[in-house]
Amino acid sequence: MFRLISGLPGPSGFGSASTAEQVTQGIDATNLTGIITGGASGIGFETARILALRNAHVVIAARNMEAANEAKLLILKDNKNARVDVLKLDLASLKSVKAFADNFIALNLPLNILINNAGIMSCPYRLSQDGIEMQFATNHLGHFYLTNLLLDKMKETAISTGIEGRIVNLSSVAHIHTYNGGIRFKKLNEKNSYDDKKAYGQSKLANILHANELTRRLQAEGVNITVNSLHPGLILTNLFKYYAVLTKILKFFSCFLWKNVHQGAATTCYVALHPNLKGASGKYFSDCNESKPSKLARDAMLAKKLWDFSNKLVNAAENS
Ligand SMILES: NC(=O)c1ccc[n+]([C@@H]2O[C@H](COP(=O)([O-])OP(=O)(O)OC[C@H]3O[C@@H](n4cnc5c(N)ncnc54)[C@H](OP(=O)(O)O)[C@@H]3O)[C@@H](O)[C@H]2O)c1
Repeated sequence: MFRLISGLPGPSGFGSASTAEQVTQGIDATNLTGIITGGASGIGFETARILALRNAHVVIAARNMEAANEAKLLILKDNKNARVDVLKLDLASLKSVKAFADNFIALNLPLNILINNAGIMSCPYRLSQDGIEMQFATNHLGHFYLTNLLLDKMKETAISTGIEGRIVNLSSVAHIHTYNGGIRFKKLNEKNSYDDKKAYGQSKLANILHANELTRRLQAEGVNITVNSLHPGLILTNLFKYYAVLTKILKFFSCFLWKNVHQGAATTCYVALHPNLKGASGKYFSDCNESKPSKLARDAMLAKKLWDFSNKLVNAAENS
């Protein structure tokens, strides 16, 4: 907490006050291609801007193509050599996730970095197109499926280039505030007991468990791809749209806890690009430093159970 408020750097040399531009200073990402989900706004947009600034080829995956094209123009305005593409992706529809992956693979680009950034927070009870509770569907299941669909491309790229692939899951400190047991396997879609904040915490816990279980699997295969999760900090973005007024009041009284978006994208950019993290996988980061997530987030059995559960949901949707 002291470090968060003071902005003092941690062991990595960076801290809560560091910006994405500062943590990637001197890094040349010319040989890298990265996908950023939700890259048209908020933390995702700043991440896309910085990756492009470091010469990476950036693919913004967004459900709103108008916003995505505007984001691309905004990046090109200050950086006319930026390599930015936009592709449609609605994480709340597994069909759309599949179409996105097919479209990306058809581009015949390499894939070094996948940033699972898009998210929604604390929406009223709703089901996705596949009949799955919306926050779990968008924040976890869509990204779970997307990652699996792109994994062969990432493996191929890692082998042919010899460059370590990196998958980054945007989680949140809110992963600690979840339902009893962490994930409601037996009543994921139950409406009566739906709690919009715990459902968000559940989906953010799932982001960490996903990264940890995928790490275990990739390490067992000896694949040169790392998977990490992170809390970006508190940044006033559209994410808070369901509690906009309350959040603004809260921010007024707790302004020392909040970051701007340049600082908010720092941990993502650090984990995606920094050479310090070569080989680091299955870790959780906050303020550009390794941090300890909740006990449930460190539960390997829960991670495996979530993996199998997620696979079943995807298979059911694919076969329906
Ligand atoms: N801001 C914070 O304080 C904070 C704290 C902890 C964790 N995080 C995490 O950081 C990540 C980025 O959040 P942010 O603050 O940058 O929020 P944001 O500005 O609302 O950005 C979220 C992005 O996700 C996209 N998205 C939402 N649903 C989608 C869907 N079904 N398919 C495709 N894209 C979708 C949004 O697109 P639309 O514009 O079309 O909705 C938007 O571009 C999230 O995973 C969030 O949980 C944020």
